[in-house]
Amino acid sequence: MAKTTRKALIPATLIPGDGIGPEIVKATLAILDALGAPFAWDVQSAGMAALKDHLDPLPEATLTSIRRNGLALKGPLTTPVGGGFRSINVRLREEFKLFGNVRPGKTVIPGGRYEDIDLVLIRENLEGLYVGFDHYIPIDNDPHGAAISSGVNTRAGSRRISRFAFEYAVRNGRKKVTIVHKANILKALTGIFLETALEIGKEYQDRLQIEERIVDACAMQLVMNPWQFDVILTTNLFGDILSDEIAGLVGGLGMAPGANIGEHAAIFEAVHGSAPDIAGRGIANPIALLYAAAMMLDHVDRQDLATRLRDAIHNTTVIDNVRTGDLGGKATTVEITEAIIRRIKQGGDPAPAKAAKPAAEAAPAAAAKPKAASPRSRKSS
Ligand SMILES: NC(=O)c1ccc[n+]([C@@H]2O[C@H](COP(=O)([O-])OP(=O)(O)OC[C@H]3O[C@@H](n4cnc5c(N)ncnc54)[C@H](O)[C@@H]3O)[C@@H](O)[C@H]2O)c1
Repeated sequence: MAKTTRKALIPATLIPGDGIGPEIVKATLAILDALGAPFAWDVQSAGMAALKDHLDPLPEATLTSIRRNGLALKGPLTTPVGGGFRSINVRLREEFKLFGNVRPGKTVIPGGRYEDIDLVLIRENLEGLYVGFDHYIPIDNDPHGAAISSGVNTRAGSRRISRFAFEYAVRNGRKKVTIVHKANILKALTGIFLETALEIGKEYQDRLQIEERIVDACAMQLVMNPWQFDVILTTNLFGDILSDEIAGLVGGLGMAPGANIGEHAAIFEAVHGSAPDIAGRGIANPIALLYAAAMMLDHVDRQDLATRLRDAIHNTTVIDNVRTGDLGGKATTVEITEAIIRRIKQGGDPAPAKAAKPAAEAAPAAAAKPKAASPRSRKSS
């Protein structure tokens, strides 16, 4: 009975993306295939690739697929700087109300600048300065004489992300949540976020230590003493910036995964972008997207496969020493993919407890579950 259950496939949308996207997605699919991951992929396009093929950077077919499946794995998408279309990443988050962005940062490869980092950043994903109320005002003959941007944080949005973060911390055995803000200067915009998070935090103070930090001080302390942080809860723009900083603490963007979680859908992706500087050269590191796939496996209650995947990545990079250039190695994308597949097929030793695999990211309370799934995953939806 259990065997049949495990064979049921879970429909999921797959977006190869731009730049290095297709290369790391191809690697990830080969590795998931070797693992026997239970996804039935519906491949759809978005970003520059979709603009070229469908004259639309976010085609209706892609939206319909995500709406139907409630689950997607996405390669990075290029956003034109300055002019051009609005970020497709931001549009996807808005379309599916993916209000919670979970970005774990954990040391996998020892010997870097920092050892034993293990923290999670939770970013409000729909509000703040990302709402895009952003325009120029002409002055004299200069059409760009001034620029104005407005942010919006709501009480309801701040409540929702705060509860999500505190629930996440409790479920994952975390001890402390640091609320990061700039309420000394942006008194209303980030004041409402701080005030609301502290208010919701009162319900969790018997289970969690809750503290607050101004964003600039937090950025500095992440460099000086990152071990003091456990879960960071913050607004959209600060979360964007601090999560790249955290990626830098654990070996760079090639190691940092992210999950965008809403009530009816979840989209998993790497924190990094489309890396146009190395696209097409066969040297991109697929690990961030692989860790995102591991978070996706956790999300559909296949922690067994997620653990095997994380162990194979650990053993490949730490024991076999197969690493791409961004991690100081010489392996190509194909070589590291083959090495991880070999480790998956061998089975082999689990990674030592202390040597850090990115934490199994248990699906937070509000997390969407896939609509059509095995009975095992439906049970917990
Ligand atoms: N979620 C997303 O889809 C997402 C996120 C961030 C940026 N972007 C977009 O990506 C484009 C490029 O942005 P950027 O250059 O500022 O940031 P980037 O993350 O693409 O690249 C920054 C640096 O990190 C390196 N890098 C990133 N991922 C790597 C990997 N997997 N392996 C090895 N090296 C890697 C790149 O070569 C580059 O030197 C922009 O259009 C941006 O808007 C998309």
